[in-house]
This record gives sequence, C-alpha cells and structure tokens, in this order.
Amino acid sequence: MLIIRTEEPRDWEPVDAIHRAAFGDGHGDVVVGLLDALRADDPTAVSLVGERDGTVVGHVLFSRCRLDAPRRLVDVVTLSPLAVAPAAQRCGVGGELVRHGLRELDARGVPLVFLEGDPRYYGRLGFSPAGGHGFRKPSLRIPDRAFQVARLSAHEPWMTGTFVYSDTFWRHDCVGLRADDA
Ligand SMILES: CC(C)(COP(=O)(O)OP(=O)(O)OC[C@H]1O[C@@H](n2cnc3c(N)ncnc32)[C@H](O)[C@@H]1OP(=O)(O)O)[C@@H](O)C(=O)NCCC(=O)NCCS
Repeated sequence: MLIIRTEEPRDWEPVDAIHRAAFGDGHGDVVVGLLDALRADDPTAVSLVGERDGTVVGHVLFSRCRLDAPRRLVDVVTLSPLAVAPAAQRCGVGGELVRHGLRELDARGVPLVFLEGDPRYYGRLGFSPAGGHGFRKPSLRIPDRAFQVARLSAHEPWMTGTFVYSDTFWRHDCVGLRADDA
C-alpha cells in the first residue's frame, strides 16, 4: 500500500538518492542542490514522500513563488522537483504525490501552481498550458508547451500576469533549458 506523508529530515538521504537515480548522472546533482536549498529557503514548502512497505519510493516539493499580476503580487507555488525511484515508476506513485499536494495547497488557499514539464504527463493531473490562460513565462528558455498551470479554487480571474520564480531557482540556474539540454 502507498502512503503519502510529509517529508522528514530522516527522509533526506533516500529522497536525494531517488532524485539522483531518476534524473541521472549530472542533472541529478543539480536537482539535489536545488532541493537542499529549497528545504532551507522556504519553510512553507509542501514536501511529500510516497512510502511503500516502509521504503520511500517517490518525492515531490511545492515551494513559494510569485505572480506579478496587474493589481498586486500574488503568492503562488511551483511544483519542482518530482521524482519516483526507477523501479517504482508507472505504478501511480507520481500521480498520487501530485494529486495529494494539489489537495493540500487548495486547502491552504493557494490559487495557482505552476510547473515546467511534459503536458502529456501533467495534463492528466489537472495542469494545462499556462500561456492559454493569459500567464507569461519567466524565461524565453521555457518551451511554451512545457509552461503549465493548475488553477485551484482560490484563483480569481484578475490573477493573470508573469510567473516569477523564487531566487533559489535562479541561484541554482534551474529555470528553463540551457542550450546543451535543448
Ligand atoms: C515523471 C515521473 C515522476 C512519473 O512518475 P510515475 O510514478 O512513474 O508516474 P505515474 O505512475 O503516476 O504515471 C505513469 C504514466 O505517466 C507516463 N509518463 C511518465 N513520464 C512521462 C513523461 N515525461 N511524458 C509523458 N508521459 C510520461 C508513463 O508513461 C505512464 O503512462 P501509462 O500510465 O500510460 O503507462 C517519473 O517517471 C520520474 O521520476 N521521472 C524522472 C524524473 C522526472 O522527469 N521528473 C519530472 C520532471 S518535470
């Protein structure tokens, strides 16, 4: 049975190992660097693990960013990173982590969740292309189709504008694709 629960410090080691294995050599280290910094920089982050038979098999983190709306800055959230241990993939763990996180953020009154990812995956989980809803991406290096948003119940129509990552993402150069990955 799969249990979704809040990440605790004892999970950091297995969670980091999952990201390294899922994202592969090189990029895994970048993701773990970002993750470490987000744990320290954003005490409001929602960090969830999926546990099966006492073993952590997946992890997702939602952290605070901003939307530069015409009326004012709005606190929003980004989903990053998400990973499932290679041996546990395609069993619904990733989907459950995302759905659980969105429910928790909705209960907290978060209006919008942004991410960069494959729309074929995230489209099933409540995300759709953000450009189509009037949002601007924070970097030209993010492909249009990868820039996605989930609008939660606290979203109001005036909440449009430019999505702005927290400084942590810029410091770790984790926004968009660099020429080597494109
Ligand atoms: C993406 C990831 C988290 C999905 O986790 P998961 O537990 O396997 O996901 P689920 O079981 O909920 O869903 C699996 C389905 O999503 C599909 N899927 C997984 N990654 C996908 C992708 N990038 N694009 C399209 N479909 C994808 C699988 O093919 C599978 O489809 P099926 O149900 O038709 O067989 C996992 O594959 C992973 O850790 N990948 C490496 C890290 C990564 O890319 N993270 C996301 C960065 S935005």
